[in-house]
Amino acid sequence: MYWEKELEQLDRRALERLQLQRLQATLAQAAKSRYYAGIADIGRVLRAPFTTIEAISELPFTGKEDLRASFPWGFLAVEQRDVVRLHSSSGTTGNPTVVYHNRHDLASWANLMARSMFAAGVRDTDVFQNICGYGLFTGGLGFQYGAEKLGCLSIPAGAGNSLRQIKLMRDFGTSVVHAIPSYLGRLAEVFAEEGLDPRRATNLHTLIIGAEPHTEEQRRRIEAMFAVKAYNSFGLSEMNGPGVAFECTEQNGLHVWEDAYVVEIIDPVSLCPVADGEIGELVMTTLDRQAMPVVRYRTRDLTRMLPGPCACGRTHRRIDRISGRSDDMFIIKGCNVFPMQIEGVLLKLPEVGDDYRIELTTIDDQDEMVIAVEVKAEWFRGDLAFLDRLQRQITRLIRDELLVRPLIKLVEPGSLPKSEGKAVRVYDRRSK
Ligand code: COA
Ligand code: AMP
Ligand code: ZN
Repeated sequence: MYWEKELEQLDRRALERLQLQRLQATLAQAAKSRYYAGIADIGRVLRAPFTTIEAISELPFTGKEDLRASFPWGFLAVEQRDVVRLHSSSGTTGNPTVVYHNRHDLASWANLMARSMFAAGVRDTDVFQNICGYGLFTGGLGFQYGAEKLGCLSIPAGAGNSLRQIKLMRDFGTSVVHAIPSYLGRLAEVFAEEGLDPRRATNLHTLIIGAEPHTEEQRRRIEAMFAVKAYNSFGLSEMNGPGVAFECTEQNGLHVWEDAYVVEIIDPVSLCPVADGEIGELVMTTLDRQAMPVVRYRTRDLTRMLPGPCACGRTHRRIDRISGRSDDMFIIKGCNVFPMQIEGVLLKLPEVGDDYRIELTTIDDQDEMVIAVEVKAEWFRGDLAFLDRLQRQITRLIRDELLVRPLIKLVEPGSLPKSEGKAVRVYDRRSK
């Protein structure tokens, strides 16, 4: 059963022909933006089109730093009046990254989401509850419009308030939930606190989990907790959001929708393509976006291409679950964090000393970020009310920056152990 049978089963040669055609159109569209207009290689391909899709490796990469440097409109490839929505990364320091969509882009994204959810077994008879941040997070509106396009009864529950989530699930017979994997342990715990067995207390048959790395063991544990199937959903805002790669009911890797994206895997050091099956960094090019085409985007996510066809009959290739990052970004409670954002906040405060440590840990089944911050000697001797105010101030500033509330511990200057060589600032001790 397919959402778009012909496209999903297109034979590889026809799929590559479609990609080449769409790549050419994408490059022509991209060249309308200030950023890509300045890239000579794109002009060259517009005059002498590629004859194979592998030739895409002759084009330069686009990085997050390019998006930031071109803020706010450098990547815009249509008139501003045609843009109907933007999504943007969080943060109050430095330039955020921003992605714009016109009507065509939003329709195409909703269709990819419907196709993805259908592949994971979701149908129009399902009641779909989206336990995910709305606002600028792409998982909110991304899944919302996909579920509506598919025809589900959708419940835009948003993140937080586990008791209300459970009530919604039980009141309306929710059969499919989308949530981040690390939250589901917490949700199961709240079921238990209410005297309910999460395996029996609802109509749930499918979980869609994504937006953060998780292992096969975590997936199996989550499936057992709720007695359902859980499918992996991968995406990133720069490529729309969710709907980039999704597991089908075979649960053997994530199909990348190759009519909408060109996928490459490169060695993050040499920047050359790795051999099929080897782990490297995922690089992606949009093929069906008008307001903001992105060419050879370095996602920093590490994965590998899985060999062979999938038993489901879809011809779009599969990537393995994400195994890490080639930069220092981490994800907590579904929010992306670059340690530099935290440093940026701390260094602005005259009371803060030379060192800090970020510890990611699990407290009462919930992931938490504990930041130990050294305070300068002249301030550390100050009165307790002052330190209390400082602690609240840092908590608020970091919460505003990251959208996650940290637990701040103020410590004496020099009390944090020094690491040898390059300073290690982040310790991930979350229970997996
Ligand atoms: N999804 C849903 N709920 C979450 C969550 C998540 N990723 N992470 C935590 N929560 C819940 C907590 O369990 C808590 O509810 P409960 O006490 O009823 O169980 C509530 O949110 C608040 O948690 P708290 O730890 O006090 O919040 P915070 O201030 O540190 O963070 C969040 C606030 C969780 C709301 C914010 O980080 C957020 O919006 N995260 C969701 C991001 C997301 O959806 N990303 C996916 C993008 S595709
Ligand atoms: P954002 O741009 O905020 O949507 O965040 C995108 C990032 O979230 C990706 O680049 C990945 O690092 C991470 N991510 C999204 N989905 C998954 C997933 N299924 N598994 C692992 N990491 C994911
Ligand atoms: Zn499949």
